[in-house]
Amino acid sequence: MARFSDEFIAAIKERNDIEAVISPYVDLRSRGRIMKGLCPFHNEKTPSFTVYLDTQSYYCFGCGAGGDIISFTMAMENLDYADAVTSLAQRSGLPLPEDGYDDGMARARRRMLEANREAARFYYKMLYENEGKTGLNYFLSRGLTHDTIRRFGLGFAPDRWDALTRHMRSLGYRDDELLSADLARKTKNGSIIDMFRNRVIFPIIDLRGSVIAFGGRVLDDSKPKYLNTSDTLVYKKSQGVFALNLAKRGTDRTLILCEGYMDVIAYHQAGFTNAVAGLGTAFTQEQAKLLSRYADEIILSYDGDEAGQKATKRTMGILEKTPVRIRVAKMTGGKDPDEIIKKFGKERMRAILSGAVNDIEFDLAGIKAGIDTSDSAGKVEYLNKAAEVLASYNDPISRDVYASKLSEELGVSKDAILAQVKRRKTAEKRKENREIYNSARSAAMGGQNSPNPDRKKNLRAAIAEETLISTLLSNPDFYKEIKDKLTKEDFATPFNYRLYSLIAKRIEDCRAVELSYFAGELTPQEMGYLAMLESKRSKLGNTKKECLDCVNVLKEERRIREQGDPSSMSDEQFLNLFKKN
Ligand code: GTP
Ligand code: MN
Repeated sequence: MARFSDEFIAAIKERNDIEAVISPYVDLRSRGRIMKGLCPFHNEKTPSFTVYLDTQSYYCFGCGAGGDIISFTMAMENLDYADAVTSLAQRSGLPLPEDGYDDGMARARRRMLEANREAARFYYKMLYENEGKTGLNYFLSRGLTHDTIRRFGLGFAPDRWDALTRHMRSLGYRDDELLSADLARKTKNGSIIDMFRNRVIFPIIDLRGSVIAFGGRVLDDSKPKYLNTSDTLVYKKSQGVFALNLAKRGTDRTLILCEGYMDVIAYHQAGFTNAVAGLGTAFTQEQAKLLSRYADEIILSYDGDEAGQKATKRTMGILEKTPVRIRVAKMTGGKDPDEIIKKFGKERMRAILSGAVNDIEFDLAGIKAGIDTSDSAGKVEYLNKAAEVLASYNDPISRDVYASKLSEELGVSKDAILAQVKRRKTAEKRKENREIYNSARSAAMGGQNSPNPDRKKNLRAAIAEETLISTLLSNPDFYKEIKDKLTKEDFATPFNYRLYSLIAKRIEDCRAVELSYFAGELTPQEMGYLAMLESKRSKLGNTKKECLDCVNVLKEERRIREQGDPSSMSDEQFLNLFKKN
């Protein structure tokens, strides 16, 4: 079977939106971030075929078919993997790659990531050496604490031609490796010199926790102010987002998007740990897509100057193509968030963030226009609809702010409004849970055709396995926490173990984990199962703890499998259990 590079598959996904691929075959109705229609793979009267715009995947709650653009094309056009990829490439005008997949790439990628990590370690260490004093003082003078410096792994590149180069050579890295990682450059006369010299260093860390690139700032007003790693085997500037590795841990799916490294760091230090920034270049569609996987709402927090306003408009245009809600924070009292926080403190910043204009106001005004709120029946109608609008927002700050406004406007207590909003949210949640339950059931009830025939017999373990798999899909960085804790024997269902191994292999190879990359190795039914797991993702806690809990459940279930269920044992067997420990 033909193998295609990740880059090629990514390019195909980039150019073929799932809605465009599916809509010639299915009449899709939009329901916010998901779309529904009648399933093309089985007969039905009510739509259970669901398209998830933010994960670019589909799943049918009726028959269990699912996957991404590639598996859809395979199933719909009856093509094999290679032909489906070829067809999608041709339809989007993408030339086919000349040579296939190269296994040496994985090794090269891993080696480069190791080099970057060593470099980051070196830069960080320098901050606390004599020759790094100027760097440390620079950060301290900008108000950063040691704790913040450590959290971001900031560093200093000494004022020497080859400080890092020598260090890396001593660790066994060859010059050509340093050059291809863009840690060093070649001068005209052929000598190798450090890429960053006499600059403070900002490592850029991806979602797996790997150091993929660096930014370096001068200590004074000289130019260029920032230098960045060029594109390498492990880094594409157009896809990089600074601090997303930290910000994605937030639970309310709101991100603050800034222009600069220092703004992000100032936000985090002030407790707004959901701030991120695009890097160096103008904000791209790829970055927007990436953010939309982790956020329902993005607060734009660009500089207050004219350039910042222009960039805001441009970025809004790009974000509007994704399902995220957009709000714009207006910088007042300083040119950027860093300056405002330093001058006025975090409460002022919080006020600016919650005052960010948004589409709630727009929605509320739209509803109110059609209702006469001078009598109490009108008031009730308006309140109910307004509660629905508020409930659709995840950000508790804006919910609170608008509940206050409504309360003043209508003379109804704020608590009553918030209670109504809460009821709405609970109803939504219940509906979501029902969908999860149904999807799990339809996967389990697939009978002979179910890709995981062992699931039904081992429900508790299987659910833990599935939770683990879906959490890993969006948090590949958790893998290192669990990999040594899990063995093949811990898995109750061989099929889930296979999915886990496929994902683990990609993470070990330092490659992206996304649905599309598995379409070549899984049957459509199996892809459907994986798509179903992926669609659960946003409903999970996405925490390391959740992963570890799953591991514990698997261990416990394994013990029961191997030693029998304590409740069905004889007294003697039961007592033996305790003797062993
Ligand atoms: P400070 O001046 O340290 O507060 O920096 P800042 O992070 O606030 O940066 P600024 O608002 O000047 O620019 C925003 C972002 O644009 C920076 O964080 C960089 O990513 C990028 N940038 C700014 N200047 C340069 C430059 O000279 N070269 C490159 N490649 N990127 C730059
Ligand atoms: Mn700044």
